[in-house]
Amino acid sequence: SGEGIEGTMKSVEPSDAAISMYYGSKVIIVPGYGLAVAQAQHKLYEFVKLLQKNGVDVSFAIHPVAGRMPGHMNVLLAEAGVPYDIIHDLEDINEEFAQADAAIVIGANDVVNPAARTNKSSPIYGMPILNVDMAQQAYVVKRGQGKGYSGVENELFYADNTQMVYGDAQKVMVQMIEAVKSLG
Ligand code: TAP
Repeated sequence: SGEGIEGTMKSVEPSDAAISMYYGSKVIIVPGYGLAVAQAQHKLYEFVKLLQKNGVDVSFAIHPVAGRMPGHMNVLLAEAGVPYDIIHDLEDINEEFAQADAAIVIGANDVVNPAARTNKSSPIYGMPILNVDMAQQAYVVKRGQGKGYSGVENELFYADNTQMVYGDAQKVMVQMIEAVKSLG
């Protein structure tokens, strides 16, 4: 487990996470720097369209400092053709996580770290974060144990309602698409 953090990290296969989201009613997606590194935005939107076709309400939640430059995530999503009306800023969507069946974090880390709310000694204390931990189930797509820009451990990864989906974001999205398509 992480330094001073309670709980253990649990992992899930991309296919199982994908199928569970496919049969959900509300899913919120949180993109971060790793989405840009993996250039996974096109595959991500392909997956989103499959969920929408099955009636899932899908929204994107954008943190103001996600990525490495202002508007980084908006640029990536625009490149992939994601319509603006499903992309929401932190203050507009943060209350909705509590009603989501699942939140999926793709290559984000610091912007979803609950330590920012509670741990006064953390370098990110006081930064507003996206309330992914309040969704019924959180999935976190990342390659391994890599820390975020701030270099601090993330409590979210150890929470009871979090499952890690390990892999490069683009490869994971391809596996998620295949899993959902195989349902016919
Ligand atoms: P970060 O906290 O930097 O976390 C990115 C995560 O992406 C890493 O933990 C990494 O974990 C994962 N990742 C990297 N490559 C990946 C890949 N190919 N596939 C899947 N995952 C991958 O990102 P964030 O949540 O977007 O936060 C942004 C941070 O940058 C904040 O601390 C912010 O203050 C800072 N910052 C922002 C800006 C602006 S203006 N946006 C400018 C400078 C600094 P693994 O290594 O385990 O994969």
